Amino acid sequence: MNKSLLSGGSHYDLLINWDKRLKNEVPFLLDFFSDRLTSESSILSVGCGTGRHLGELSKSYQSSLLGIDLDPTMIAKARMLFPKAEFIVGDFLDPKMIQERTFDAIYSLGNSVGLIAASITSYKPIIKKFSSILEPGGILVFQLLNTMKERNGWSPPRNIQTVDGEYIFLRGFTTTPNFIQPEIVTLFRASSDSDFELMTTGKTNIPRITIHKMKQLLEDAGFIEIALYGDYHKKSFYESSSQDMIFACRQAR
Ligand SMILES: C[S@@+](CC[C@H](N)C(=O)[O-])C[C@H]1O[C@@H](n2cnc3c(N)ncnc32)[C@H](O)[C@@H]1O
Repeated sequence: MNKSLLSGGSHYDLLINWDKRLKNEVPFLLDFFSDRLTSESSILSVGCGTGRHLGELSKSYQSSLLGIDLDPTMIAKARMLFPKAEFIVGDFLDPKMIQERTFDAIYSLGNSVGLIAASITSYKPIIKKFSSILEPGGILVFQLLNTMKERNGWSPPRNIQTVDGEYIFLRGFTTTPNFIQPEIVTLFRASSDSDFELMTTGKTNIPRITIHKMKQLLEDAGFIEIALYGDYHKKSFYESSSQDMIFACRQAR
C-alpha cells in the first residue's frame, strides 16, 4: 500500500466512522461465524488495520485471534486498544509470514484485499494464501470495493476537530480501464486562526476484477459454497451499482 495513503493508525481511526461501520459489519461476520465456529476457534484478520473488528469478535471468540497488517502504526494502535488479541506486523504475502499456522476462519474487510492486490496487480496469490492457511471446512469472508463500478470524483470532505487541531479528509476516485484509484488527502491546522497545511496525499492502483474471475480464482483454490453480496445487509450484487463485492465461502473438506 502507498505509505502516504492512510498512513498512521491514529489518522485512520479519525477518518473512519467506526460506530457506523462496526454496526453493519460485525453482525455480518457473526452471522457466518456463529453456526460454524466455537468459542475455541482460531480467527485471522488480514490487513486488520487498528483491529476494530477483532476487538468486537473477542467478545464471542476468546482463544486465538490474530491480526496482521503491513503498517506498524496500525498494529501499534491495535495492540494498545485490544491487548487480548495477537497482532503482527508484516506483508500477508510474504512466504515467511504465518507459514506454520492454520485458522478456522479468515476475514479481510476495509478493502484490504484490493490494497494488497495493488502492490502485485493480482488477486491470485492472495486467494491461494487464504486457502493454504485455512483448516479444511474453514470459512473465508472478504470484502473489496466493487472494482467494476465506475468511480470518479470526490466525496464531501470530513472535518474532525481533535485536541491537537482540525483535520479535513478528502476522499476521491478515478477509474481507468484496469484500475480504480482511490485517493486520500489530509489537511491539518493547529488552530482556527492558522491556515490548513497539506499533511498527506496518495493514490493507489487497485486492479479491477470481475466477479466471474474472482469466483474462478476461489474455485481453483478449492473453495465451495461461494456467496456474493453487494453490501453488509446481504443485498444482491450489481456490477454497475453495488458499493462492495463481499465474498463468503468455505474451504472444501
Ligand atoms: C483500508 S485499511 C483497512 C483496515 C481494516 N481492515 C478496516 O476494515 O478498516 C487497509 C489495510 O491493509 C493493510 N495492507 C496493505 N497491504 C498489505 C499487505 N501486503 N499485508 C498486510 N496488510 C496490508 C494496510 O496497511 C491497511 O492497514
